[in-house]
Amino acid sequence: MFKVTLVDHEWDDTSLEESMFAEAGIEFNVLQSKKKSEIVKAAKNSDALLIMYAEIDREILEAAPNLKLISRYGIGINMVDLETAKHAGIQVANVNDYCVDEVSDHALASIMSAARRLFVYDKDTSVGGWSFKKAPIPLRANKASVGLLGYGKIPKRLAQKLKVIGYQVKAYDPFVSEEKMLEDGVIKASLDEIMANSDFISIHTPLIQATHHLIGKRELNLMKKTAYIINTSRGPIVDEKILVDVLKDGRIAGAFLDVTEEEPLSDTHLLRELENVVLTPHAAWYSVDAFEEIRVKAITNIIEKSQGIDPTYLVK
Ligand SMILES: NC(=O)c1ccc[n+]([C@@H]2O[C@H](COP(=O)([O-])OP(=O)(O)OC[C@H]3O[C@@H](n4cnc5c(N)ncnc54)[C@H](O)[C@@H]3O)[C@@H](O)[C@H]2O)c1
Repeated sequence: MFKVTLVDHEWDDTSLEESMFAEAGIEFNVLQSKKKSEIVKAAKNSDALLIMYAEIDREILEAAPNLKLISRYGIGINMVDLETAKHAGIQVANVNDYCVDEVSDHALASIMSAARRLFVYDKDTSVGGWSFKKAPIPLRANKASVGLLGYGKIPKRLAQKLKVIGYQVKAYDPFVSEEKMLEDGVIKASLDEIMANSDFISIHTPLIQATHHLIGKRELNLMKKTAYIINTSRGPIVDEKILVDVLKDGRIAGAFLDVTEEEPLSDTHLLRELENVVLTPHAAWYSVDAFEEIRVKAITNIIEKSQGIDPTYLVK
């Protein structure tokens, strides 16, 4: 019988896993301890591991002669020693599309809140104010430009939503052609063009070596004084120290950050204090449906493997 061990998770119960694996004729075990020695022992007797944040290193992989697949609830697979897994013929799968609607909505909500100055008015009225002049006069949506950094699944969905509202949308992505973007009514642009001319800049590149601090001093200094930056991707894409400086000095209008260089953000971090910053705690993905989808898809990866099929979300 194909055996799967659930190493770690964030769910209230594991009834969904239990029922899906039972229906597929798979033996399902939940690891009770997160101790490394327990993970090694469990891996030894498993055909597949289901993980959330647990680190699966060389020692675990080399002690697991039957292991065929590691499936992760989520996108990033940096906690798995991919090199050793590949060497040992162990496949790795993830779920890379469980929150495309949620994250694109979150970026859209940030753009719209910035555009209509909701957060400025809310702060002012909550301390007794009542004046539309409290906020800088906004542009009409069809006169404003949104620049997307990266043009993968999430920004593509965001662009569809923005176009319906009337925004001009440009995107920077060296790996997506001008023709592909034009099919969505999006104009391909350089990074500098986006930084200099957009009213809202929304970050969606993955965090890789090439994008670490992609947005630094030079790029932030290109921004209009009236522009907002929105980051729902990964904190380290922006050089946060410089971002804090430009926000403090009012050199840009504001920032909406779902992600920060360090998570959780320290209690005393300056970003928490700045009036022109709106923070959310890496929550852009969060919804009833995303919660279920991430589980069903990570489980399905394993069921497929047990049936001799390559998992749908196999990491190449
Ligand atoms: N805040 C959250 O809750 C949350 C949830 C899910 C995903 N995310 C983040 O959103 C990011 C985007 O997700 P996605 O599904 O759109 O990704 P995706 O994998 O579909 O697309 C990534 C895009 O980035 C482009 N890219 C790669 N290197 C680049 C570079 N140097 N400069 C510009 N573009 C580059 C690629 O060509 C690709 O089009 C993820 O990497 C993840 O970090 C955040």
